Amino acid sequence: MLLPLSAFPLPEYASQSVLAGSAVIVIDLLRASTTIATALAHGATEVIPFQTPESALASRKSTNLLGGERNGIRIPGFDLGNSPLEYTRSRVHSRRISFTTTNGTRAILHADAGSANVITIGSLVNLSAVSDFISKLNLPVNILCAGTGGRVSLEDCLAAGAFIERLTANPLRAHHTIEADDQALMMLKLWRSESPGLGRLQEAVSSSAGGRNLLALGFSLDIRECIRIDSHPVVPVFHRGTKTITLR
Ligand code: MLT
Repeated sequence: MLLPLSAFPLPEYASQSVLAGSAVIVIDLLRASTTIATALAHGATEVIPFQTPESALASRKSTNLLGGERNGIRIPGFDLGNSPLEYTRSRVHSRRISFTTTNGTRAILHADAGSANVITIGSLVNLSAVSDFISKLNLPVNILCAGTGGRVSLEDCLAAGAFIERLTANPLRAHHTIEADDQALMMLKLWRSESPGLGRLQEAVSSSAGGRNLLALGFSLDIRECIRIDSHPVVPVFHRGTKTITLR
């Protein structure tokens, strides 16, 4: 069986018809995908993505924490920002989190608007877990990079390349032919050139616009956290019915 694997450097490049029936991986390496995976790995019961701070605030119930950022900084009145390091077990265990970020939650909601079969949230911290889960589905795969303000982000494309490497090499898919599109091949080449060695990977991610912005804001530890491959082996799944993200 031939299974197409497409990668989109920005969510809006993926049309609704392309997403229909597929398995989608949404990637915002710095930092929304990493933070969502971390929150769920640390026992948050669900993460509810919102497009705007206002909609997140309006949804607030007494049991919910509010998390997210604008311009990289915690939103006034919110409990948590968008640093994965804030989402500790003691802070988030057994809590529901209403969450909004500039680009990451927008990308998730773009995937929701198409009738994808499965929507997962991928980062380097859950690279193997999400790759293995997606491999077993035997569906066409679309990888959506969140980007930054409508511009392509190096770090998302880099992380997408890591998924493409796993998905094309995974023995679970040995009886299928994976047909990666050119955008996926470009991201794979980027990953292969920048990933040998943690130092090199950290340098590449830090050199991106998103990375430089985090460094300027004093979030250098977040970059290290976001590239800790497989540190949170969880599979966050967005449920189109309830509009929530939970662990599979
Ligand atoms: C986003 O969704 O735009 C990012 O996660 C921004 C950030 O790193 O805080």
